[in-house]
Amino acid sequence: MMAEPTTAEIRLVIGEVEQDPSQLLPVLWRLVDRYGWVSPAMMNVVSEVLQRPFAEIYGVASFYQLIPTAPVGPDSVGICMDVTCKMAGSQAVWDALGQTELKNSIHPVACLGHCENAPAAFIENRVVTHITQGSVLRVLGKEPPR
Ligand code: FES
Repeated sequence: MMAEPTTAEIRLVIGEVEQDPSQLLPVLWRLVDRYGWVSPAMMNVVSEVLQRPFAEIYGVASFYQLIPTAPVGPDSVGICMDVTCKMAGSQAVWDALGQTELKNSIHPVACLGHCENAPAAFIENRVVTHITQGSVLRVLGKEPPR
């Protein structure tokens, strides 16, 4: 596992921001973009920089599914299991991927806001729509089974 970044590294990623609560989500996104998740140590630095209570930072970070608060593997696949995606076949994709090497990498997520292109998944920090077993494997650079 990657070592926890130092406070100086975290501050560098965060960059110059106003002490403005509206900067919280952009700051958290920068950290997710760089490290793939936001640790409590990172939240502490954000708390200092934005001069907001740690509980507020943690509350926002833990609310959004797309801001992981624990390390995620490189092959993490968040499959939307909300109503529209289920109706469009996310359960079948889940079941199929559960038979592959990704069986320990898939996890359910709630609506990703792409219902019109269901079923959707969150892979490599982006939303992928109209997913199938094959498309998920292709996005991850793995050959679909023949
Ligand atoms: S229900 Fe899956 S993206 Fe909305």
